[in-house]
Amino acid sequence: MSSQDTELDSAGKRFRDQPPGAVDFTVMFLTHDALLRDLRRLEAAAAEGRHGEEAVRNGWDTIKHELHIHHVGEDEAVWPQLREKVTAPGELATLDLMEAEHGQIDPLQARVDAAFTTGGAELQSAVKEFAASLALHMEHEEDRALPLVEHHLGPEGWAKYHQYMMGSQGMDEVGFYLAWLLDDAPDSARTKVLGMLPPPVQGLFQQSFEPAYRAAPRWTTPTV
Ligand SMILES: [Fe+2]
Ligand SMILES: [Fe+2]
Repeated sequence: MSSQDTELDSAGKRFRDQPPGAVDFTVMFLTHDALLRDLRRLEAAAAEGRHGEEAVRNGWDTIKHELHIHHVGEDEAVWPQLREKVTAPGELATLDLMEAEHGQIDPLQARVDAAFTTGGAELQSAVKEFAASLALHMEHEEDRALPLVEHHLGPEGWAKYHQYMMGSQGMDEVGFYLAWLLDDAPDSARTKVLGMLPPPVQGLFQQSFEPAYRAAPRWTTPTV
C-alpha cells in the first residue's frame, strides 16, 4: 500500500490516515482491510493443511461472497460514474485498469476453488497468486482510482455509491457485511462505522447481525 497506510497499530493492523480531501473513504478502506485480513487467514489455513475444515470452507465462501458484492458495487456504481466525468488519457487508463484487474482476479479465484479439493502445494500456490493479485489491485485502486473519485465525484458522488450498496442488498445481507467488516477491526473503526448507522440498525447489529455472524465457525474450528 502507499506510504500513508503502512503504519501498523498495536494489533499489527495497517492503519491509514484519511487522505486529505472531502470524501470519507473509511468504508472502502475497511473493506479492503477485511479482505486482506481474510487473505492472511486463508494463507495460514492452506499452509497448515486445514482446507477440509468446515470453518475454513465457510471463511473462503465468505471471501468470495463479499468480494463479489464489492466488485459489483464498484463496477456498477463507481467506474460508470467516473467514465462520465474523466477525459484525460491517464485517468481513462486507470478506469480500464480497474475493470481489467477485476476480470483477472476471477480466474485466480476459480483456481483456488478447484485446489480446495486437493490442498497441498497447488492450493498454497493458488492462494498466493490470488492474494497477491487482489492485494495489488486494491493498492492500485487506493492510489490511482480513489483520487479520481475525490477529484471528479466528491462526497455527493461517493454517497451515490454508498446508497447503491445499501439499496441493492437486503438488511440481513448488509448486517452480515457489517459484522464481517468489523470482525477484529480496531475499536476506533467499530465506533466510527456503527456511528454512521441509524440507531435502530445499531441495535440490530449488536443484538442480531454480529451474533449471527459469529455463530457460524469461520476460519477456526471451535474446540469442544
Ligand atoms: Fe475496492
Ligand atoms: Fe476493486
